[in-house]
Amino acid sequence: MSQERPRDLAHAQTAFASYQDEIYLNGLLTGEPPRFPTGAAAVEAAARERMTAEAYGYVAGGAGGEATIRANRAAFERRTIVPRMLRDVGVRDLSCSLLGTELPAPVLLAPVGVLSIAHPDAEPAVARAAAGLGLPMVLSTASSVPLEAAAEASGDGPRWFQLYWPKDREVTLSLLRRARAAGYTTLVLTLDTWLLGWRPRDLDRAYLPFLQRIGIANYLSDPAFLAGLATPPEEDPLAAVAHWAGMFADPTKTWEDLAFLRAHWDGPIVLKGVQHPDDARRARDAGMDGVVVSNHGGRQVDGAAGSLDVLPSVAGAVGDDLAVLFDSGVRGGADILKALALGARAVLVGRPYVYGLALGGEEGVRHVLRCLLAELDLSLAPTGHARLSELGPGVLGTD
Ligand SMILES: Cc1cc2nc3c(=O)[nH]c(=O)nc-3n(C[C@H](O)[C@H](O)[C@H](O)COP(=O)(O)O)c2cc1C
Repeated sequence: MSQERPRDLAHAQTAFASYQDEIYLNGLLTGEPPRFPTGAAAVEAAARERMTAEAYGYVAGGAGGEATIRANRAAFERRTIVPRMLRDVGVRDLSCSLLGTELPAPVLLAPVGVLSIAHPDAEPAVARAAAGLGLPMVLSTASSVPLEAAAEASGDGPRWFQLYWPKDREVTLSLLRRARAAGYTTLVLTLDTWLLGWRPRDLDRAYLPFLQRIGIANYLSDPAFLAGLATPPEEDPLAAVAHWAGMFADPTKTWEDLAFLRAHWDGPIVLKGVQHPDDARRARDAGMDGVVVSNHGGRQVDGAAGSLDVLPSVAGAVGDDLAVLFDSGVRGGADILKALALGARAVLVGRPYVYGLALGGEEGVRHVLRCLLAELDLSLAPTGHARLSELGPGVLGTD
């Protein structure tokens, strides 16, 4: 078995764990602790101090009584890892290939809109941090800068684009054209947010950033969107917001409509928000390339299952045919290991990097991502795993 180990893979990223050495060594030399905390809960607590109450509530909050947010975490905490010993884990290879994108580790940055509410450097800072580590940022349709600006900031880094599918056909086509021209390779269509979930934290403040024209930059910069306005947005901002609200999404869409997207996007398409194996099968039958098992971080439906709890059934149904990705509740390296063991090819991380952004802009995001990668590496090694292909349900305890 050890002969199969990637001892001499030049591309193998074996240095993620070295962030730990860097932190300890720096502490020894300077007498200082790291600039930012290393655990997800501590990062969130520190970020909260920096954010406005509205912004923190918007990011942290979820639907209704937030039972789904709790279920997401409970699904991870209920599962346990059973370490294996003496298996030569000296060199680890976390790299993988995902729908034509080469990743140093199975981690993507989940699409999160309106990032300027967390930090003025917003999406470009996140794009730079992600690109520096070779991880794809999935840029939200609801980004606070136009998709071209985020693309430029990501340089040579991999980029995927998340689509909130507008009602307006011309605006949809225009967004797809622009995303393609800006070098986004994979389209992630979000299925769970045709309507905004009932979110008491935001409702109690009557806070919705879009109404303040935050998070609609892709529309305000879009020729097809602007063509539908009688007056420019600068002259009549409310009319622009009303035009946006009227076309943001179309809850009447059905599986048959996917043929339109398939016809107008020549790269991979991934459906985000799938929670049922039958929906995953329909995605496959509609010619899609992947699914993200996600409940939108518990922001849409209160009382839903923990996303990790539905992952095995979806992976079991389509894992051989589609790229099965996962998100909702990932907070540390061990969580990533558990999701991979249950059939995910890669995970998306949402709120943790937003808190990193709020704390320290690009540097804060980079820190959060390096912590996650280091912790993943340092979860694999002591549990006896040197490569992702070794992970399966047998890695986890049975109770
Ligand atoms: C503040 C915020 C904004 C989000 N905006 C989007 C978005 O624009 N498009 C989208 O598909 N998902 C969006 N999501 C959902 C994330 O992509 C992802 O599914 C979720 O954050 C994963 O859960 P986690 O935060 O527990 O990691 C958003 C999530 C948050 C917290």
